[in-house]
Amino acid sequence: MKRYGEAEKFLADTIGLDPEVMGPRVIKNEVDSLMQDLGTDDVERCVRELSLSEEKLGTFIEKIVVPETWFFRDKECFKFLKRYARDVVSGKGSCPVRVLSAPCSTGEEPYSIAITLCEAGFAPTDILIDAVDISRKALKIARGAEYGRASFRGETKYYEDRYFAPAGDGLRVNPEIAGLVHYHHANILGKGFFTDREPYHIIFCKNLLIYLNPEARRTLLAGLKGLLVDGGILFTGHSELASFLQKGFEAVAHPRSFACVKSEPAHRADTPSLPSVPTGRKRPRQPAPARLAEVSSPTRMPRTARRRPPSRSMSSSLAVRPGPKQSFKAF
Ligand SMILES: C[S@@+](CC[C@H](N)C(=O)[O-])C[C@H]1O[C@@H](n2cnc3c(N)ncnc32)[C@H](O)[C@@H]1O
Repeated sequence: MKRYGEAEKFLADTIGLDPEVMGPRVIKNEVDSLMQDLGTDDVERCVRELSLSEEKLGTFIEKIVVPETWFFRDKECFKFLKRYARDVVSGKGSCPVRVLSAPCSTGEEPYSIAITLCEAGFAPTDILIDAVDISRKALKIARGAEYGRASFRGETKYYEDRYFAPAGDGLRVNPEIAGLVHYHHANILGKGFFTDREPYHIIFCKNLLIYLNPEARRTLLAGLKGLLVDGGILFTGHSELASFLQKGFEAVAHPRSFACVKSEPAHRADTPSLPSVPTGRKRPRQPAPARLAEVSSPTRMPRTARRRPPSRSMSSSLAVRPGPKQSFKAF
């Protein structure tokens, strides 16, 4: 095995990273820097240290992951989200709408989702957004909700005027929007990731799959499928869509939204379903699908009585994931 192979394998097993995609020098440079800190030139020792210390591993991962993101990235995806949320989810008794943004990086994506759902007419009490990332540094920025100009790359003026306030040289997300997003530190590829959660109506999983090795891709696809209601929508990155289309998803008929609908039922017996959305493919007529309200929420609570489920603490969301090989909580 080549000198850094041990470290590459450890990272592949832990967070699914494909060293080829990351570039040959990224992992090497970080391992070299860690070895220097530890005063060793033994890669195996380095890997041992990482596997024994959540803190060291966290710091190491921070240096390797790619946190790049911005508000309303892939604008067609948010146009479709607005239409979908308004026409399909609302009015079908499926409130609150449950959305997962994973990975969420520094928060621009989940806040864009929150704004879009407000624009679609949802009351804040009818929106539940969970947002997940492995990077504590990214999550700290996300919780702070303050952004420089680099986070606004498209035509965002309309939203800036309505949902942000000036903060230094940048903008801060208004508290009513910021309060709609619940952040969690977690490894999406960790064993049992979020399997104790009620399935989501909408999942955003953009720009993660591209960095993963084939096995991690399979794990991620299967995990997300189990976390989505039947007929639910998954938004992904433009070069990632094809992987989902091979695994029981169908592209929706909205160009450049990179959205697909879960067309194959999950193995979870308790997974509720959503009404169908138009996809690019002609399908034979089928009996009307069950309304979400009938399967997931038999008695729609009056607006005033609806309560957001208690948000799990970061430590409890991590606690579901210790694998047999690891000696710490996070993965
Ligand atoms: C390029 S950003 C994507 C952010 C956003 N979804 C978007 O498309 O703009 C990739 C994020 O994935 C996170 N990440 C990488 N591996 C992860 C894992 N196994 N579990 C959770 N987050 C992960 C990184 O920390 C980084 O913030």
